[in-house]
Amino acid sequence: MAGGKMAGAKTKSANAQAPGKTGLRYQSGFGNEFASEAVEGVLPRGQNSPQKVAHGLYAEQLSGTAFTAPRTVNRRTWLYRMRPSVAHKPFEPMSLGGLRSAPFDEIPTPPNQLRWTPIPIPSERTDFVDGLITMAGNGNTHTHAGVAIHIYVANASMTDRFFYNADGEMLIVPQTGRLLLRTEMGVLEAGPGEIAVIQRGIRFRVELLEKQARGYVCENYGALLRLPDLGPIGANGLANPRDFLTPVAAFEDREGDYRIVTKFQGRLWAAAIDHSPLNVVAWHGNYVPYKYDLANFQCINTVSFDHPDPSIYTVLTSPSEIPGTANVDFVIFPPRWMVAEHTFRPPWFHRNFMNEFMGLVRGEYDAKAEGFVPGGASLHNCMAGHGPDAETFEKASKAELKPVYLGDTLAFMFETRFVCQPTKFALETSQLDHQYFECWQGLRKKFKGSSV
Ligand SMILES: [Fe+2]
Repeated sequence: MAGGKMAGAKTKSANAQAPGKTGLRYQSGFGNEFASEAVEGVLPRGQNSPQKVAHGLYAEQLSGTAFTAPRTVNRRTWLYRMRPSVAHKPFEPMSLGGLRSAPFDEIPTPPNQLRWTPIPIPSERTDFVDGLITMAGNGNTHTHAGVAIHIYVANASMTDRFFYNADGEMLIVPQTGRLLLRTEMGVLEAGPGEIAVIQRGIRFRVELLEKQARGYVCENYGALLRLPDLGPIGANGLANPRDFLTPVAAFEDREGDYRIVTKFQGRLWAAAIDHSPLNVVAWHGNYVPYKYDLANFQCINTVSFDHPDPSIYTVLTSPSEIPGTANVDFVIFPPRWMVAEHTFRPPWFHRNFMNEFMGLVRGEYDAKAEGFVPGGASLHNCMAGHGPDAETFEKASKAELKPVYLGDTLAFMFETRFVCQPTKFALETSQLDHQYFECWQGLRKKFKGSSV
């Protein structure tokens, strides 16, 4: 491991998972009350804040929601650490690099359909924070509404600097390169086909397990992501709670000349810190980072006719104050059988109240024969027409409707209630596909009738 020693982790949890490829252990369940100790006997019994914590540790509460949030959505964790997180020098402003934040008013937002090819991974040393490039966003960091959508491109691990985001939680969707996310609560590994969520305020650093990495980040300014209600689907299905994995306690005990970087109110700030803030020896609570393997998503779709609305593919949702209108939904289009009878099977032509930012982790998306490639992105904002390209339309209109397995595909969508306003970078980069509109120009009139 670069940059320090992470103590071997033990957990008190009975539901810890078997060691994975990297030997990491996890606790399973979404929003559970977890408890984990890297050193046995650290967690206080029967109280949170004893006069003296075992081994001379400090107790600190991290509140992810208001103290008074309803119990079902209340999130907080008690941390038992070598030094409290207040122990650092003052923050000073630093360069934003490619990061942008609400309000997204750099440049007028066109009503056009937009599409990008993948942003290249730079040759100069770039870690996860340096490599964050904002594509679009909406809402307001001050009022905790909306999202920012970033792409990260990195070729170096963070060793002596740490990051936390005070503006929102970060849903990370790796597209290439596995990541090791070292957080205050322990270590998670996430690679292509998986996601990881690190909530507002949690200190972490990102190591690369391969030479380079690229992926997507939805920075959610709004309510914490949660599992969607299932309604008539019942008690099981879509993303099941037990498949969400949270790390076990693990700590770094190292001192040196480090930096802690924060995103706060749309700007980046850095402070000197003489020790690793990943110094939590034990913790308990439900405000914890997690990962999820998208292969565990139980896909529900038609077994009769018609393509249902893509909300059937919702993995996580950040609700707004308007029922059924998400601040952001995270939706995937995973491998699945297509069996609909007498049906046009790809996604239909569509105009939407909501705003759809899409990415592709691997394979092909079934509405686009070409042009939408892994690592790329598209954006269809409020009331912008979109749908299958002309080639896909022709093919699907004539296809024999036998059961077909779409195996090589993993697309996803950040669907948000506010218009996603692209950044100046996104509209001026050479990765913007100025010919995107052409894919629909071949949709000729086929109408053969006449008016009576
Ligand atoms: Fe759509």
